[in-house]
Amino acid sequence: MSLRYVTTNEGKIAEALEYLDADVVQFDYDYAEIQAPELESIAAHGARAAFRAARRSDTVDGTDTPVVVDDAGLFVEGLDGFPGPYSSYVDDTLGVERVGELAREADATRAQFRCVLAYCDGDGFEATPEPVDREARRGQDLSADTRDAATTDDTVAGGELPVKLFVGSVPGRIVEPRGDGGFGYDPIFEHDGTTLAEMSPTEKNAISHRGRALAKFADWYAGR
Ligand code: IMP
Repeated sequence: MSLRYVTTNEGKIAEALEYLDADVVQFDYDYAEIQAPELESIAAHGARAAFRAARRSDTVDGTDTPVVVDDAGLFVEGLDGFPGPYSSYVDDTLGVERVGELAREADATRAQFRCVLAYCDGDGFEATPEPVDREARRGQDLSADTRDAATTDDTVAGGELPVKLFVGSVPGRIVEPRGDGGFGYDPIFEHDGTTLAEMSPTEKNAISHRGRALAKFADWYAGR
């Protein structure tokens, strides 16, 4: 059964295909992002909205099609994780170069990119280390250490949609912009002496937050 990758960005499909043997199709569904301090809540909310939209649009032989949503951002440690979940908005308004200047002015250059993949297929999940986001708990504290480290979910029958989360991150530091590749904050993010914008797509995918989350997800999904 195909997996619907919820994105308006075709590049993400190409990247997902490098990790997944599954039949991956783009699901061009623009869900409303909730304002939340964590990527986890935003991605889980998006996965539920997308799953419900897919369910309304069609089902294959009465079977729901699984969906996966990703949400990513840059977290500058010395700026309390700014811009974090607001990376896209800050990119559009303040701009990448200004974020770089702020971090360097504050001498706060340690940073990481994080990516959360949120998977929903309407069923519950067997216990694995990856967390499950439960709908009933949305709005409460969903930090990784307090979130249920996963038991079989028994709320599916009650109509709630559990979502499985896969997190990938890459450490680095904020530098003066270098390189012409990539997108977003890539020119100001250096990992092992090279900015992500100086890497080829293959080099970036091999170490990127999204690549790491996809690798974990692909491993788990193969057994789903
Ligand atoms: P999204 O999860 O793809 O919507 O990413 C949110 C924002 O985070 C983007 O608009 C970019 O500004 C930034 N971002 C996410 N991933 C990357 C990356 O791999 N390189 C550079 N910027 C990124």
